[in-house]
Amino acid sequence: MLSHLVYVSVRKPNCTEEEIGKILEACKRNNSKIDITGVLLYSGTHFLQYLEGDYKEISGLYEKIKGDDRHKNVVLITTGPIKNRTFPSWEMGSKEIEEEKIEFQTDMSKEDANAFQDIIAGKGQEGSKALNLIKKFFK
Ligand SMILES: Cc1cc2nc3c(=O)[nH]c(=O)nc-3n(C[C@H](O)[C@H](O)[C@H](O)COP(=O)(O)O)c2cc1C
Repeated sequence: MLSHLVYVSVRKPNCTEEEIGKILEACKRNNSKIDITGVLLYSGTHFLQYLEGDYKEISGLYEKIKGDDRHKNVVLITTGPIKNRTFPSWEMGSKEIEEEKIEFQTDMSKEDANAFQDIIAGKGQEGSKALNLIKKFFK
């Protein structure tokens, strides 16, 4: 069943820019094979990833990602069935974000930027809100 999953995590200091490059290479290498699309937002201190694809593939990939030593404190924000993909042609879109300057990087209001910062900090928010905010980075 077509599903989505969003999580946040803390980027560890060992996760250099070079390691980010390796993660994105792995996405390119693996995700299209299992028909997974999505986006990865990252700052100096956090990751926020949105995955979409078959439920079993997403769950398997999430388990693998959770065990990756380049991040920690992985927190599931939302998961469940979806009708359509939001990013159908992206094996993994990515964007570096500056957590202090989110309103200037997007057309988000101050309120939305605050809500987004809460999500990144793992302070629960409804999942639909999370996806709407993620989309604003890829307009
Ligand atoms: C924040 C984060 C997101 C990741 N996202 C993906 C992903 O979408 N697809 C993927 O194959 N690997 C992803 N990885 C890397 C995996 O944990 C793992 O290192 C990689 O899949 C191994 O690839 P390989 O089996 O081809 O060697 C991610 C790692 C981190 C830290």
